[in-house]
Amino acid sequence: MNDYKGKVVVITGAANGIGKELARQYAAKGAKLSLADIDVENLSGLEKDLKASGVEVSTAMFDVTNYGAMEAFAQRTFATYGTVDFFFNNAGVISVGSIWDQPLQDWKWLMDVNVMGIVHGIKAFVPAMIKQDKECRIINTASIAGLLTVENSPAYVASKFASLSLTEVLELQLQDAGSKVKAHVICPAVVATDLNNCLRHRAKELYNPEDPYYQTEDYKKRDAVVQSSMKLGLPVEKAVEIIIEGIENDQFYILTHPVYNLAIVARANGIVEGIRPAKVKR
Ligand SMILES: NC(=O)c1ccc[n+]([C@@H]2O[C@H](COP(=O)([O-])OP(=O)(O)OC[C@H]3O[C@@H](n4cnc5c(N)ncnc54)[C@H](O)[C@@H]3O)[C@@H](O)[C@H]2O)c1
Repeated sequence: MNDYKGKVVVITGAANGIGKELARQYAAKGAKLSLADIDVENLSGLEKDLKASGVEVSTAMFDVTNYGAMEAFAQRTFATYGTVDFFFNNAGVISVGSIWDQPLQDWKWLMDVNVMGIVHGIKAFVPAMIKQDKECRIINTASIAGLLTVENSPAYVASKFASLSLTEVLELQLQDAGSKVKAHVICPAVVATDLNNCLRHRAKELYNPEDPYYQTEDYKKRDAVVQSSMKLGLPVEKAVEIIIEGIENDQFYILTHPVYNLAIVARANGIVEGIRPAKVKR
């Protein structure tokens, strides 16, 4: 699996951040790429740059919440390359707020993109990947927020716990089926990407920017935490090196920030001891 010449790597959310860097690093290793994103401008720019350096790449512009479009993407990828070796279900968005004040539509948006987007990718790609009857990988991006509860982003945490647990179930079912497809789940802590600017692609029917909650001090304070922390995140190049190495080493859970390991163990201990959750300490 670790010789990438001629291998096909598929990535959703490939126009920016972690997805874009995955595309660049796999391309540098000799892979062919099938890339998808809702961000037409940045995906087109990436496609142009990759093609200019001789990379075989095809792109699709769509919203991962649209299952029909995901199916068409899978069909087009298999028609173009005949195979898929690595499928990254990576597209994701974040929101912040207090649970009892945050607009319900924030929840719908996060669940649709971060959970159903992944389910759509699994349903569209995995049956054909199983049929290939060769070793290949599906890699879902959750977050450290799928292993630890942080207080700023309830819908994000809930969506990432869901994407992590559904990937665990996927792995169990692939094992049960005797399939050669293996699953992985990526759990990064803060990485310096464009995630804090994700509102720009939010569907109009799922967003009312005039909602009074977005004018409150509570929202502004929580948003400021995300805006400032992203700048201090791990460089995306380093995060992606860790991710690729984790896949090569056949790690199921791929964590990028060992500084949180103690907190993950403390959470597990707290659960069996029945202790009330407290803010995460490093
Ligand atoms: N950056 C971090 O600190 C961090 C930490 C943990 C997990 N993650 C996860 O990593 C993944 C990648 O995020 P990133 O940090 O690179 O952010 P990013 O915003 O730089 O990249 C995410 C990409 O997903 C695309 N996207 C968003 N909604 C989409 C939709 N509905 N359909 C298709 N594409 C869509 C965006 O256009 C963007 O190109 C996400 O799942 C995110 O939750 C990021």
